[in-house]
Amino acid sequence: MEENIVSITVIDREGKEHKIDAPTDMNFNLMEICKASELPVEGTCGGMALCASCHCYVQSDNALPEASDDEEDMLDQAFFVEDNSRLSCQLPITNDLDGLIVKLAPVDETVA
Ligand code: FES
Repeated sequence: MEENIVSITVIDREGKEHKIDAPTDMNFNLMEICKASELPVEGTCGGMALCASCHCYVQSDNALPEASDDEEDMLDQAFFVEDNSRLSCQLPITNDLDGLIVKLAPVDETVA
């Protein structure tokens, strides 16, 4: 692993894997990294834990920060929520995310 770069795998809604190198020293979160990589992550609320458009499933066992109350509340209202659901905007890019594998959650067609 290069210094200040972590390797993250994002699986899109078609099941295609995207390997992304993400910088740990630029204050990005995972939603922003996905958007910068042109993955179909809306990030409608700009990372405020208010829209769930950045909902993803964590498939690796990286140590992640606990979900905040705001994130929990939003996930309570989101669709297709699983035990490993997280809002990617609430996951800052840190060394802990090296090797992370996440899958994008389906979009709720009724509001899309
Ligand atoms: Fe809105 Fe993550 S971007 S909840």
